[in-house]
Amino acid sequence: MSALKTQLEFELERFNATKKSIETVFIGGGTPSTVSPELYKPIFKLLNPYLKENIEITSEANPNSATIEWLSGMRELGVNRISFGVQSFNAKKLKLLNRAHTPDQAKNAVLNAANVGFKNISLDLIYATFGDTKELLENDIKTAFSLPINHISAYALTIEEGTAFESKPQMSSEQLSLTSWIFETIESKGFKQYEISNFGSYNSTHNLGYWQYRDYIGAGSGAVGKLGLTRFYPHTIIEKYIENPTEIREEILESEDKRIEQIFLGFRSCVGVNSKVLTQDELKRAQILVDENKISLIYETFYNDDYLLADEITLFISS
Ligand SMILES: C[S@@+](CC[C@H](N)C(=O)[O-])C[C@H]1O[C@@H](n2cnc3c(N)ncnc32)[C@H](O)[C@@H]1O
Repeated sequence: MSALKTQLEFELERFNATKKSIETVFIGGGTPSTVSPELYKPIFKLLNPYLKENIEITSEANPNSATIEWLSGMRELGVNRISFGVQSFNAKKLKLLNRAHTPDQAKNAVLNAANVGFKNISLDLIYATFGDTKELLENDIKTAFSLPINHISAYALTIEEGTAFESKPQMSSEQLSLTSWIFETIESKGFKQYEISNFGSYNSTHNLGYWQYRDYIGAGSGAVGKLGLTRFYPHTIIEKYIENPTEIREEILESEDKRIEQIFLGFRSCVGVNSKVLTQDELKRAQILVDENKISLIYETFYNDDYLLADEITLFISS
């Protein structure tokens, strides 16, 4: 936490941050709920002057470590949105995912967050997992909507390098028809989909900022920051990060990288793709999709509302 503060001081200078210029804060991880609110105090003392009024401040949390003390402590610091790593309300599936909490702990954590006063509560669900059935996912979604939440992030399980699942690729098994059914079912219960993995009666301003290609400070071991066409990578090895939190690798992006990323992110979310981003050839191909009612064109911005087709649309337009 002290290294994190050192890097933040460095980044606030690099970004020429001025009073009230920070628009959102997102505390992610790893697992922020394993760190006591006391240790976040110096971070908030540093950031508070730079935070705009009525700012969205989110913290991720895991049900097994997000105690009432932790939740109310973070709330006192100014955190006003919690994102719980629930993954499922099915005990067998949680075991399969090696998660440390039970379905009841997950429900209680969400209820505790509401009781200490959080109005913006999100929970993560994982699908496309070995053993998934429509019944299991239906129960997960029904249970989620029985809780005081206004946002869901639903992620297809991906097999990440260096994780226990790397040797069990069969753990990830997606049936597109089931994925499509999940999206429709969450939407039918009143949470509009605003990105391939995100649904809500509330849209996270922080998430939208990434998809709008905004600049962001990325502080912490393994975090990533972006300013203009430069990305910043602090050490991913925590010991090296603590030793030298301002030793940060830089990646210079080409404007073409920015263009491709804006197209990719725009069609995966409600942000869309402004026609100024596209080349003449791409504009022609985009118009073909408009004529085929696959995407729409509103005020010079192309919008896709079938996020399962997002990558195909991006490939077709930018090929
Ligand atoms: C940044 S992670 C938060 C880390 C969190 N402490 C955790 O336990 O995973 C945010 C969310 O990403 C999702 N996630 C983590 N690993 C994943 C994987 N391999 N595939 C798909 N989603 C994953 C989970 O829903 C998790 O709650």
